[in-house]
Amino acid sequence: MTTETNLLALITGVSRAEGLGFETARQLAQRGMNVLLTARDLEKVNLLAQQLQSEGLKALAFQLDVTSDESAAQLAKEVEARFGKLDVLVNNAAGYFDAGGTPLESDMDFIRDALDTNLLGAWRMVKAFATLLRRSGHGRVVNVTSGAGSFSDPVFGLPVHRQNVPVYGITKLALNGLTVKLALQLKADNILVNSVCPGFVATYPGTADWGARPVSEGAAGIVWAATLPDNGPSGGLFRDGEVLGW
Ligand SMILES: NC(=O)c1ccc[n+]([C@@H]2O[C@H](COP(=O)([O-])OP(=O)(O)OC[C@H]3O[C@@H](n4cnc5c(N)ncnc54)[C@H](OP(=O)(O)O)[C@@H]3O)[C@@H](O)[C@H]2O)c1
Repeated sequence: MTTETNLLALITGVSRAEGLGFETARQLAQRGMNVLLTARDLEKVNLLAQQLQSEGLKALAFQLDVTSDESAAQLAKEVEARFGKLDVLVNNAAGYFDAGGTPLESDMDFIRDALDTNLLGAWRMVKAFATLLRRSGHGRVVNVTSGAGSFSDPVFGLPVHRQNVPVYGITKLALNGLTVKLALQLKADNILVNSVCPGFVATYPGTADWGARPVSEGAAGIVWAATLPDNGPSGGLFRDGEVLGW
């Protein structure tokens, strides 16, 4: 992608100034993109968009709940009416970090809700925005995943801990599967779809003391995948622009 000033990016889950969604939006906007910040709480996302605007960046705020088909469809309609296309979709919204959890003790409603947000949220968004991404001619989809959903991560990976985020990890494992399948289908449309793990990032108080790195570093890997050239990889899992083992 060379002329990024004409590009439009949409990021889900931008409700916290400390979060990866906000920092990703800022970095994409600093490259000249027009960024659409979205979150469940319109008041919160409005304030964050205003913050970027005050930095001289192109940012707008929209309400979006990624668990709602209607909400995703309504936003796609609005984006189509105002912009006619979408170049970058960052599926960042997620939750349900069940630290200390075990698969047998996990509540079925919690599991369903986690899948609805972390897996189906991204799926729903790509379905809703596929037409607009195709119109870009250079669409990019980034699914923000986690080492907790991989077999290779030596610290947070699926086989490492008996009691470590089983529900969250499995939703991210499934999200990575979605990445592979979407990449295959959307290749003909020049849309690149990748999963990116930001690493352990200090988005919550105290986590820096446990070794979490600055948000700017985690977001940079997401921005890398959002701005790949047309001959860039698709259907992969990356951290900091490097291949991560599944
Ligand atoms: N921080 C890390 O170390 C780390 C490591 C690996 C992966 N990640 C991934 O990075 C992404 C961002 O995480 P973060 O650390 O920046 O935490 P975060 O600020 O809590 O980000 C999650 C965002 O998702 C939003 N969200 C949850 N459910 C939603 C829904 N139904 N519709 C729309 N938005 C919804 C939250 O908004 P509300 O305020 O409305 O709940 C929040 O803005 C997540 O995908 C996470 O899994 C983070």
